Amino acid sequence: MAMAAGATMIGALAACGGSGAGGAGAGGGGEEPQSIEDMTVGVAMPTETSERWIADGAAVESQLEEAGFEVDLQFANDDIPTQQQQIDQMITKGADILIVASIDGTALANQLKAAANQDIPIIAYDRLINGTENVDHYVTFDNYQVGVQQGTSLLRGLGVLDENGEETGEEGPFAIELFAGSPDDNNTAFFWQGAIDTLQPYLDSGVLEVASGQTEMDQVTTLRWSQETAQKRMEDLLTAHYGGGKEQLDGVLSPYDGISRGIITALQNAGYGDTIEDGLPVTSGQDAEIASVKLIDTGVQFATIFKDTRKLATQAVEAAESFAKGEDPEANDTETYDNGKKVVPAFLLESDIVVAENIEPLLVDSGYWTAEEVEAGQGD
Ligand code: BGC
Repeated sequence: MAMAAGATMIGALAACGGSGAGGAGAGGGGEEPQSIEDMTVGVAMPTETSERWIADGAAVESQLEEAGFEVDLQFANDDIPTQQQQIDQMITKGADILIVASIDGTALANQLKAAANQDIPIIAYDRLINGTENVDHYVTFDNYQVGVQQGTSLLRGLGVLDENGEETGEEGPFAIELFAGSPDDNNTAFFWQGAIDTLQPYLDSGVLEVASGQTEMDQVTTLRWSQETAQKRMEDLLTAHYGGGKEQLDGVLSPYDGISRGIITALQNAGYGDTIEDGLPVTSGQDAEIASVKLIDTGVQFATIFKDTRKLATQAVEAAESFAKGEDPEANDTETYDNGKKVVPAFLLESDIVVAENIEPLLVDSGYWTAEEVEAGQGD
């Protein structure tokens, strides 16, 4: 078997004309064809503080290994210099292909230039890397659509839309507040735009009201997607605009489950009640993190967005295999993701809204979480 796989010989650079990144990575060697078994993929992940990135790292590593690659997987603790250093080291140690989920989408130009100089193909993973020619492919979800789903789930939670997305005629007015993700993450503006485009007609008609008046993305971002930062902002908003929790807030747009949990803690501490039934405002989310799935199951958080990281990993590994063979990976979007220097060919996956009623079909039946994990609110 090893022989058969090993026989997948690759005329890497020859096939691509060696035109910088985009040529297949044979570690800059050039003439010698390389087999996947001789190739190392450097995988740079942002952080282990959020469970989605741990899952991404594990899925990418195991699927790359199954395909025959060596893997150099690193997590950067949400620290930009650490990530820069890790990528530098991957290059020095002879990585043939890089898969990078950036912390700050604009901070890696030097590293990627060094990689491109050695003809190492670069795959941006989930988050686009900006301001550089040297990103060859992008695997992600339809990030604008994720935002639409976040806005839609908030409207559903408030009863303005039904489960089919149809208007119910409910006119409110509902008091909401808005949160966005980390300003240095390219996805943040996509999530925000999708959500605000969905909510705007209801803000315009007065069905939704934002008492703080903070309706611009720049006013509502959350650096590094921090739960603590979000909790603090929610506490401040309650103090300043909702009589310290005495006046009614009905819903909160949250772009990520960790942020949602910070918001929920602030609301519960302010006396809003433990569950939505008890008067807790409805909150959206993202990532189907197990702690939040439990909160959804028990009526505390209203919704999350499920992005199947296993499928994203598969897409990244397929892209790596294509580069290894000197081919261009499959893209299904060649227009949306302009990084300021070029439009990066992308493969976009779809996501789903998860509410209490569809935890089982979407998350349990697909094997993403077991019923026991949902009940415990903890992964194995
Ligand atoms: C990802 C989200 C995640 C967020 C925080 C974004 O780039 O697309 O899935 O919730 O980062 O980790």
